[in-house]
Amino acid sequence: MIDFNANKRPEEMERISTPALANAFIDAQVEALRKQIGDGKVLLALSGGVDSSVVAALLIRAVGKQLTCVHVNHGLLRKGESEQVIDVFRNQMDATLIYVDAVDRFLDKLAGVAEPEQKRKIIGAEFIRVFEEEARKLEGISFLGQGTIYPDILESDGVKAHHNVGGLPEDLNFQLVEPVKLLYKDEVRVVGKALGLPDSMVYRQPFPGPGLGVRCVGAITRDRLEAVRESDAILRQEFYKHGLDEKVWQYFTVVPDFKTTGITDGKRTYDWPVVIRAINTVDAVTAEPYELNFSFVQKLVKRITTEVPHVNRVLWDVTPKPSATIEWE
Ligand code: XMP
Repeated sequence: MIDFNANKRPEEMERISTPALANAFIDAQVEALRKQIGDGKVLLALSGGVDSSVVAALLIRAVGKQLTCVHVNHGLLRKGESEQVIDVFRNQMDATLIYVDAVDRFLDKLAGVAEPEQKRKIIGAEFIRVFEEEARKLEGISFLGQGTIYPDILESDGVKAHHNVGGLPEDLNFQLVEPVKLLYKDEVRVVGKALGLPDSMVYRQPFPGPGLGVRCVGAITRDRLEAVRESDAILRQEFYKHGLDEKVWQYFTVVPDFKTTGITDGKRTYDWPVVIRAINTVDAVTAEPYELNFSFVQKLVKRITTEVPHVNRVLWDVTPKPSATIEWE
């Protein structure tokens, strides 16, 4: 019997690589969760990322309505992401899900802030504030679910840094519930698949906690953020259509905070460029650009410049890491 609350992965624990092994893990973990939680209530910040989604699905199976999920839309999510979280968890899995529209709050706080680390700090701090406010509105919560995974324990003292909920005030007195903390990422995905989560959630590419905020370079404005979101949606659609989503580790668009001249329908324009980035890496410490087919790039250029308002130019960033980082901020 594996102690799922231990901080060290037991040597005899087999790598979860098949549906059968995932189902055995799910059965054992559901039993362990029921024992830990009893008739208590659990709160979970559900971003829609792989880890928090798998934790939500496990908790729904174990304790159903004793779980309350809070999904905070900070305005920096990709197109359709909040809608998918609501559809999968509220509509399909019948979870209790509180949707918090905090878009204006975040964008107001970020207005005029150009320095990348300052932007990250504001997003992280505001996230904790919004989540704390929701937690205080609820009564009788004694447990906090968290999507900590094994690399978090190995690399950063068990703190899920980018989940941003580590900083909740102590007086809330929550006991942590971390059902996937002994699992590696690939195992979390196998478990998520066995729990019936959609492939687009289980196999999705890494997405930074500060979201599109670090891809809208410099001080975020609503119209430039929309240009990031719309161009990202086109890029993802085309990657999926051409099977590139399975070949490329991370792919996204960036909109820098400068304009250049262009021409549309015979008229001079002064608008933003969109940068496309597609990289492969093993561990994100170093990364190589993926060599996209040139006619595919031209297709992206055509769609982005015609479909995204206020964009007249597309650039392709082929810089490896180092010298660049993967993200632009
Ligand atoms: P960089 O840009 O440092 O990115 O080469 C390495 C990987 O980390 C992701 N990334 C972040 N993830 N919070 C996150 O959760 C962040 O602030 C953050 N910054 C970068 C990035 O998307 C890439 O996969």
